[in-house]
Amino acid sequence: MSLLIEKAQPEDRPRVFELLEQANMHHIPSEEVPSVTWENYFVARLDGEVVGFCGYKILSPTDAKTELMVVDPKCRGLGIGFKLQERRMEEMLADGIHKLITNADLPASIAFYKKHFGYREVGKLDKVHEYSDPGIDQWTTLQVDLDQWDKNRKKGD
Ligand SMILES: CC(C)(COP(=O)(O)OP(=O)(O)OC[C@H]1O[C@@H](n2cnc3c(N)ncnc32)[C@H](O)[C@@H]1OP(=O)(O)O)[C@@H](O)C(=O)NCCC(=O)NCCS
Repeated sequence: MSLLIEKAQPEDRPRVFELLEQANMHHIPSEEVPSVTWENYFVARLDGEVVGFCGYKILSPTDAKTELMVVDPKCRGLGIGFKLQERRMEEMLADGIHKLITNADLPASIAFYKKHFGYREVGKLDKVHEYSDPGIDQWTTLQVDLDQWDKNRKKGD
């Protein structure tokens, strides 16, 4: 089994939209997600098939925000989400980013970011319209210091 995390290519977009639709995150453009930049997007290729993707957006020379992340429901729990998140955090660190924000709604996803990447909750944000889980009407805003994350993982925390 070969898993590669690579920059997303234009030809990956139809498959990315299939994955977004499975997670009810395909409402793009919308007030929740006006656009996808594609510039800083990564896909997970399992034996050549795209089974996950994620992206990020630079907000200022020091701050960034994650944009979207979905892993194919058939492939969850295999460490693919971890590798995608690690890759985008490494790319942002290399871009000189210090502060990273992520909005998440599903309790399991919020737990994933806190447990594996050192995020802490910094606020709540009302959803503008249905997106992701229709039963959850707020985003939980999570924040992580990328330098601290990098130090901790090098120490093995
Ligand atoms: C969050 C998500 C990307 C994680 O991807 P993944 O490949 O399953 O993650 P990994 O295998 O690397 O890590 C699994 C961890 O995530 C947690 N997890 C979160 N949602 C999960 C799910 N639906 N199925 C399995 N594990 C899930 C597990 O509890 C596990 O934690 P543990 O290590 O403490 O056991 C994926 O569950 C997903 O696509 N969820 C729906 C979309 C979403 O919420 N995206 C985040 C938007 S901010």
